[in-house]
Amino acid sequence: MDIMTANKIAAGFIISLLVVKLGAWFAEETIEAQEPEEPAYRVAVAETGADQKGAAAEAAAKGPSLAELLANASAEKGAKVFRKCGACHTIDAGAGNRIGPNLHDIVGAPVAHRDDFSYSDAVKNHGGTWTYELLDHWIADPRATIPGNKMAFAGIRKAKDRADLIAFLRANTSNPPPLPESPSGE
Ligand code: HEC
Repeated sequence: MDIMTANKIAAGFIISLLVVKLGAWFAEETIEAQEPEEPAYRVAVAETGADQKGAAAEAAAKGPSLAELLANASAEKGAKVFRKCGACHTIDAGAGNRIGPNLHDIVGAPVAHRDDFSYSDAVKNHGGTWTYELLDHWIADPRATIPGNKMAFAGIRKAKDRADLIAFLRANTSNPPPLPESPSGE
């Protein structure tokens, strides 16, 4: 081949190399441009993790106390949280039992408060009353609170959601016990 043809081949080779390089560079640039979104997502995931750890820490009584949470709780928000319970429980006075007993007047009531509901032996024999603390534990982790009960519910992790829910139960109790007092200095 003559020199011109060799040059053309060489030029073609260089150009295609350039195109490939440029393409790769461009792809990298595009990926780089997307990167800020990714770490933001990872942060969100990390926050959720921290939140769950927070709930665990609260369970170990390191977070705001139940008294503090209840003092700032919202029965209105609790009504929304109660949707998780509504499949099995009614709340209005005189509304019937479902899979679970009617929960009107539950705060401060004896455990197993309905005569017309067939409780598990675990709940029936538990004794005591539904104090704010017991309700909080029960809603957080029913299985651990009264082992052997038949309420098929995993529990609500967020202490604030539980406090709102308890405020809602309290709003549907005619004579609720006084809210626990925040220990001074907290
Ligand atoms: C899948 C159905 C189901 C869901 C969901 C459910 N429960 Fe229950 N609940 C039951 C059953 C069944 C019992 C009776 C447990 C037993 O006898 O062992 C019960 C019992 C209770 C009791 C004891 C009542 C008493 O008379 O002593 C309370 C309080 C309670 N549930 C609150 C809640 C709250 C609050 C929620 C929502 C966060 C909830 N439950 C979600 C089925 C459910």
